[in-house]
Amino acid sequence: MSTTLTRPGERAEDRAKVVVVVQQKGGTGKTTIAINVAACSGRSAVYPQASNEDAPAPVVAAGIDVQGSIEKWCARVREVKLPFDYLVTKGKTGILPLILGDPTRRRVIVDTPGFMDVDPDAEWDADPLGDSRTADALRELLDVADLAIVPITPSRITWDEAEFTIERILKPRKIPFLVVVNMHDPSKDKAEKQLDKLKAWIDEREYPRVADPIRRYTIHEHAHENGTLVTEYKMSGTALNAREDFMRVALTMEQML
Ligand SMILES: Nc1ncnc2c1ncn2[C@@H]1O[C@H](COP(=O)(O)OP(=O)(O)O)[C@@H](O)[C@H]1O
Ligand SMILES: [Mg+2]
Repeated sequence: MSTTLTRPGERAEDRAKVVVVVQQKGGTGKTTIAINVAACSGRSAVYPQASNEDAPAPVVAAGIDVQGSIEKWCARVREVKLPFDYLVTKGKTGILPLILGDPTRRRVIVDTPGFMDVDPDAEWDADPLGDSRTADALRELLDVADLAIVPITPSRITWDEAEFTIERILKPRKIPFLVVVNMHDPSKDKAEKQLDKLKAWIDEREYPRVADPIRRYTIHEHAHENGTLVTEYKMSGTALNAREDFMRVALTMEQML
C-alpha cells in the first residue's frame, strides 16, 4: 500500500494537505484540537459545489485510535451542524491514503492516540514507534503528513513529551510542525508567569508556535459528551474567546501549509 504513496515534496501539488495532531502524552488536548480546528477550517472553507448538499466536504476530520474518539464525538453532532466529513480508521492501515486521491478534499486533520508505545531502549537515531497496530497506522499517517500540530500545556510534565515527539518522531521525518499551548487558565494568578516560562522554553528550542494559547474553559470539558463544536457553542463572551483560540490555530496552520 505505502508504495503507492508519495513523500511530501514529491506528490502532486493538488492533493489534500494532511495535518496530524500528535503528542505522546495523553490529555493534552489532541482530540479537542483536531475536532475544533477541523470545525474552524470547515466553516471557512469554500465549498466547490455549494449548491449540492451531497458534495463531499473539503475538510475531513479523521482518527486513527482504536476507540474512535472522533467518531463518537461527531456522531453526537447534528448532521446539519457538522462543517466537515469524518473518517474513522480504528487503527487500520490503507484507509487514510484512499481519500487523498479524492480531489474535492482539501484538508485532512487527523487525531492520534494519547499513548504511543515507544521503545525506551531504541537507539537515539532509531524509530522509537515500535511494533504495534497503532505504530503502523501512525507510520502510514506520518508518511503523508504535511504538518504536525503538537499540543503542550502549562503543566511541566507535558514539555518533555512534546520535545520527544518533535525531536524523535517529527524532525527525523522532516515533517514541519507547530506547537500550540493548550489549557492556559486566565483566571489563575500564576498562569501568566507560567505561560511566559513555557513560551521561553519553546522559543529557546526555536520551535514554531501559535502566538497565543488556547485558554482553558469549562465549556470545552463536556463538549465531546454533548457533541458540540467550538463553532456551535451557545453565544457568550467565553464562547467568542474559545472560538477565537481555535480560529487562531486554524489560521496559523494555513499559513504553514
Ligand atoms: N482548552 C481546554 N479547556 C478545558 N478543557 C480542555 C481543553 N482542552 C482539552 N480539555 C479537556 O481535557 C481533557 C483531555 O483532552 P483531549 O482532547 O481528550 O486530550 P487528548 O486527546 O490529548 O488525550 C478532555 O476532558 C477535554 O475536554
Ligand atoms: Mg484523544
